[in-house]
Amino acid sequence: MEEKDKPAGAMLRLEAPPYDTVLDAYSVKDLVGALVQRTADAPSEFEAVMHWSCLLAIELDQVSQFHSNHFSQQRLFDIFRMLFSTPEFRPEDVQGKIIVELGCGGLNPLSRLFMFLMLGAERVIGVDLDVVKDERYAAIALARTAAWMLTNPTTLLAEGAPAPDVVIQRLRGIDLAKLSRGDLSGLDGSALEFRRESVYEMSLAASSVDVVMSTSFLEHVPDAARAIACINHITKPDGLGIHAIDGVDHWHYFKPDIHPLDFLRIDSPDALVRECNRVRPLQFISMFEQAGCQIFNLNKTTELDLSPLQRQDLSAPFREMSDEMLAIARAQFFMRKVSEAPAHLLKPSLPSDVTEGDFSTAPASASSSAPVATAARPAVPPAARYQTVVRPTQTSQKTNAAQPVPPTSVVPTPEPSEAQTLQQLHQTTKQLRQKLQRVRKRLDRAEAEVAEMKASRFWQWRSVWLQFKQRLRR
Ligand SMILES: C[S@@+](CC[C@H](N)C(=O)[O-])C[C@H]1O[C@@H](n2cnc3c(N)ncnc32)[C@H](O)[C@@H]1O
Repeated sequence: MEEKDKPAGAMLRLEAPPYDTVLDAYSVKDLVGALVQRTADAPSEFEAVMHWSCLLAIELDQVSQFHSNHFSQQRLFDIFRMLFSTPEFRPEDVQGKIIVELGCGGLNPLSRLFMFLMLGAERVIGVDLDVVKDERYAAIALARTAAWMLTNPTTLLAEGAPAPDVVIQRLRGIDLAKLSRGDLSGLDGSALEFRRESVYEMSLAASSVDVVMSTSFLEHVPDAARAIACINHITKPDGLGIHAIDGVDHWHYFKPDIHPLDFLRIDSPDALVRECNRVRPLQFISMFEQAGCQIFNLNKTTELDLSPLQRQDLSAPFREMSDEMLAIARAQFFMRKVSEAPAHLLKPSLPSDVTEGDFSTAPASASSSAPVATAARPAVPPAARYQTVVRPTQTSQKTNAAQPVPPTSVVPTPEPSEAQTLQQLHQTTKQLRQKLQRVRKRLDRAEAEVAEMKASRFWQWRSVWLQFKQRLRR
């Protein structure tokens, strides 16, 4: 309805304008930047601009309830539904506990820990190598989480949410007004802490934590066996470990046409490939067990199909794995500490120059200088029910002098016969040929992409040129 047709006294209504496809050409990032800037810069059109900004804030909040949105209720809901999916750990069990979240991330590092505080935890600690990317957003996220918990807790917890007066009691000492203005000093440091440190060198005392949890963290550490041993070390006897592991190629999240297991095709000695250690979720079972944990619940959350052709295309250690080992791409583990981690697992087993992934700055190939990833794989064959052993394709050029290499075999190996040698040569030639084919395919793809880019540039420049000519004519 036109403004002039409205009855006298009618208020301005917030109605979204029709969707304009011309704007498809701009990235969401550019549009957000422009909108924020224009809202801030436009005092003369204050009311009109605020009208649209207000609408934007409300609409975006409604339509962005996705797990992949780190600031959404949906993400918290999914994570806490997973955490409380066993009778051994319910919302009421959080009361009085000391809880650590590993790899809590830099984007919204504190919201999950804050939830634990509202559920009655005594102390919560986030550990990550990354910096808190934006303290202002981190603070505002906490104020919003508190508001949701007080007004609409079922958006965060399927069941077991405490009553609002209990939540208020637990938030005593926390300045929600300061947090809502983006000021992290509103937090009570003694109850909630962020420690920027590595999982391998945590400042937490041995056997001091009731619950250690992580989401999408263990697939990112170069030395998973050692990380797990360090986690067990800080856990109290009989304490809980809850870990969700995402074994999907993370490039798939940015380029959906990439197969979720595409990174298993890459022949690489690096500890991290595309920022992940590529340890298959089910391989973690034996790692947890060797570190002294007893798994009491395992949810295989994502199962993928691999055709025989796709399997053939995998790099050697993965190609040899059992179907189930390959198929389970995401899993959640629940465990208890039953014994101390063996001392040898707590020590570095990767060469000392292997760097941790700094997720704040690392480009996709940041780990390319890291040497052989032997330690990211189980040191000892997995438990008997998982017969497959991942064998590294190459051995390290560098050895860690501080770490004696255990003898692999005490039985002398007989000299291979001529026929065996020939067969080996044949096998190696076949593998090299396959590798060459893959490299060729990649080259072809890269060339096609370059051609596509050039073509699109050409059209961009052409349209700029045409616009320019039109303007000259005017
Ligand atoms: C994919 S992010 C997960 C973030 C968060 N858990 C989430 O679900 O949104 C992995 C995190 O692990 C952290 N990380 C990697 N290696 C680490 C290490 N050795 N010690 C501590 N944190 C580490 C990274 O900095 C990153 O923030």
